[in-house]
Amino acid sequence: MKAYRAAILRFATDREPRHAALYEEDGLLVVGANAQGTQVVQAVGPCNEIRPRYPDLAVTHWPGRIIAPGFVDLHSHYPQTNVIGSPAEGLLPWLENYTFPEEGRFASAQYSTEAAQFFIAELLRHGVTTALTFATAHPASVHAIFTEAKRQRLRLITGLCLMDRNAPADVLNQASANGAADATEQSLLDSEALIRQWHGIDRLGYAITPRFAPASTEAQLRGAGELAASYPDVWIQSHVAENKAEIAWARALFPASRSYLATYGDFGLLRRRAIYAHCLHFDDQDRALMRDAGAAAAVCPTSNLFLGSGFFDYAGADRVGFQYGLASDVGGGTSFSPFHTMLAAYYVAREGQTKAGLSLSPQQLWWQHTAGAAQALGLAGVVGNLQPGCEADFVLLNPQATPLLARKTALASNLDELLFSMIVLGDDRLVEQTVISQAIQA
Ligand code: GUN
Ligand code: ZN
Repeated sequence: MKAYRAAILRFATDREPRHAALYEEDGLLVVGANAQGTQVVQAVGPCNEIRPRYPDLAVTHWPGRIIAPGFVDLHSHYPQTNVIGSPAEGLLPWLENYTFPEEGRFASAQYSTEAAQFFIAELLRHGVTTALTFATAHPASVHAIFTEAKRQRLRLITGLCLMDRNAPADVLNQASANGAADATEQSLLDSEALIRQWHGIDRLGYAITPRFAPASTEAQLRGAGELAASYPDVWIQSHVAENKAEIAWARALFPASRSYLATYGDFGLLRRRAIYAHCLHFDDQDRALMRDAGAAAAVCPTSNLFLGSGFFDYAGADRVGFQYGLASDVGGGTSFSPFHTMLAAYYVAREGQTKAGLSLSPQQLWWQHTAGAAQALGLAGVVGNLQPGCEADFVLLNPQATPLLARKTALASNLDELLFSMIVLGDDRLVEQTVISQAIQA
């Protein structure tokens, strides 16, 4: 067992609101293996209460630092690291001019491996310890990111991107020589083989990954839904209702469905553990469909602002009651930093605010990128928090990391002011270490 002494931030699990943060000025976090051999939180609380229970345990003391749950990033594209900051009129020209040309390179295992290593190193540098990410339509891209995540013990969920039409040939699923009738059937066989090879290995999970309805035939969406029914604890990830031109395209291709979102439901792709990126242009029937299915939205504010896609309607989501959490959406998103994403969510919620008032509170923002995002994934009590039993993934924050952070955090007179200072001024410099189970990254 190990013990760490510092200020500790975590979230209450026994009271409303769900995003209520708990903060110990002088806390102790005790970590040790559970029955399965996973490093989990054994005890947490005020140092003077917890320490006498473990008299023989050596304590690592980090004065002036804050231990907080590792961040959970609900949506990104590891093959789009090089695409960050590519300006376009909107989503569809951005895909065509920047994103598809880069994704074509992931047919190469070597290219994929280098990109996967860089991407995971960036996640860890920024304090992200659980990530749901897209690969490309090339199986080599999936093997590369799972291999690297396993090596680094990152909790990572990904899957083969399903796209069998409406994009350049080199980014679509390919037919291969081993017996499938066509690329569509091959993509489904490859997905199932990848589930069997990787899902549930160490901390890895598989997500059935139709890119978005316009890039899949009916046969591919139907096959994806059948796969989802056969493997109920596998995740699903896709995009929906991000951009007006994209929505018109999806409606034209699937006119029988009530809405773009309903298309996914009609093919069996709306259920718990289904995470849909964006969810911007919804009506209340769409919101109810998300809620009733137990699906969740990955809210991607830096991406939505950068691509001019729109504003996530927080009030609408809360009124109808579907789940959501925060995501970087690298490379439509502009940053790996959870602090930048939380700040962008604050701007978005302010812009979308119809009533007078502030925006999201600092505790709500932080929760959406940790325990709330974990709940959206169906991993509440597993990651995203530091309550007893949670996997011991945490960040060590240094509020003195820059002169301005030191000056501003010293003035904080309550927890909200402290958290807000870090959300507004923070970036990778604030993250002094990222600790994932046994592994420590400085
Ligand atoms: N819709 C379909 N593909 C993508 C993508 O790669 N990024 C974003 N932001 N939206 C998409
Ligand atoms: Zn995306």
